[in-house]
Amino acid sequence: MNAAQGRRYRAAPVSVVGGALSVPGDKSISHRALMLGGICSGTVQIRGFLDSADCLATMGALRALGVRIEQPARQEVVVHGAGPAGLRASAAPLDLGNAGTAIRLFMGLLAGQRFASTLIGDASLMRRPMERVAKPLRLMGARIDTQEGRPPVLLHGGAALRGIDYTLPMASAQVKSAILLAALHAAGLTRVTEPAPTRDHTERMLGGFGAQLHRQGATIEIAGGQMLRGTPIQVPGDFSSAAFFIVAGCLAAPGGLTIRGVGVNPTRTGLLDMLRLMGARITVTPIAGAGPEPLADITAYAGPLRGVAIPRELVPLAIDELPVLFIAAACASGETVVTGAEELRVKESDRLAVMAAGLGATGVQCELLPDGLRIRGGTLRGGRVDSHGDHRVAMAFAIASLGAREAIEISDVANVATSFPGFVGAARGIGLALEEAGEP
Ligand code: S3P
Repeated sequence: MNAAQGRRYRAAPVSVVGGALSVPGDKSISHRALMLGGICSGTVQIRGFLDSADCLATMGALRALGVRIEQPARQEVVVHGAGPAGLRASAAPLDLGNAGTAIRLFMGLLAGQRFASTLIGDASLMRRPMERVAKPLRLMGARIDTQEGRPPVLLHGGAALRGIDYTLPMASAQVKSAILLAALHAAGLTRVTEPAPTRDHTERMLGGFGAQLHRQGATIEIAGGQMLRGTPIQVPGDFSSAAFFIVAGCLAAPGGLTIRGVGVNPTRTGLLDMLRLMGARITVTPIAGAGPEPLADITAYAGPLRGVAIPRELVPLAIDELPVLFIAAACASGETVVTGAEELRVKESDRLAVMAAGLGATGVQCELLPDGLRIRGGTLRGGRVDSHGDHRVAMAFAIASLGAREAIEISDVANVATSFPGFVGAARGIGLALEEAGEP
């Protein structure tokens, strides 16, 4: 066990939480703001930036590629765009840490450059599939090597890319976004068709930078060679971080728990529909904003939850929220079944297997399906859970303490810092009895 694996949480059972909080900036949008900022003309002022390990990995990589970036405050970043042909080769491999979004979007951004790049990451990232991005980029003319489908990813550069018409084999915003970024450097039109809607932050942000994109049904069309113009970006609170507190409110906030200033892009909010199907009372109060992303305050109230069969079409709209949905299911009456979620097997951990093991270890009756979980609610006891270094698994089990009879101990939690620095303080602030210990 290395020092980082030694970080652990202990969450004692608590029955009531409440109050209000805000969560850090959106991870997906922070990565994209840095990257589009890096290749635009002009400067980009980012407010509400997520100052987490994942986004700092993207920032470090862009700096290594020659982009000048200032960070006058933790949540404020100024990117001085290098222009469409302004990136230069990095002397060393680009290390994207734990960040799947960073490595995959960089593949798209760098595939059409004149120079070569090598992309690597931490032990978890080095196990994750990259051919899903490499394949369409090769069809565009890029030369890319992976190591049996995984990083290191070697982008040879120097190829003239051409537009493609590509149907994604899986619902993946990362693959879609990588193709759209490569398309900016490709000759002619690129068309990407999605099998199901996924987060559309790249499309919205490209529009904000002045690019022309057209969506017709499930197909997005973009022409190569477009100039991006720098524009200020206000990053909303991350719905995926708010999700832990939405479920906390549903489990234990009779007077309501409010999360302020959250991004409520409809391609992200499937969890709200799932929880409402389970009987949850949640209010969403829109906040007027200037940017392309909708914003709201969300209040969740405690009430009885009942198990349901989750409609498959909601799964891609809640792909990062399923770990905490499984916790809600463990605290509901009756059975919840999630299917169509095989993508969870290739996240920061195999989230189906790791969540099933954690639920089993805390007394929950749970069946691992090839593409989902079947969970019998009302049997959560407490116990020891290994998060396998997966931030969302660690935070989900901290929230489980609101439905548990005994304490829950969670190991290997250091990676919570990849998406939610300050999680422990935020959780304690609304009433969780959460402690963190272990080697720094
Ligand atoms: C993301 C897309 C999703 C999501 C990830 C962030 C993005 O991944 O799970 O946390 O920012 O585009 P997939 O594209 O692999 O579904």
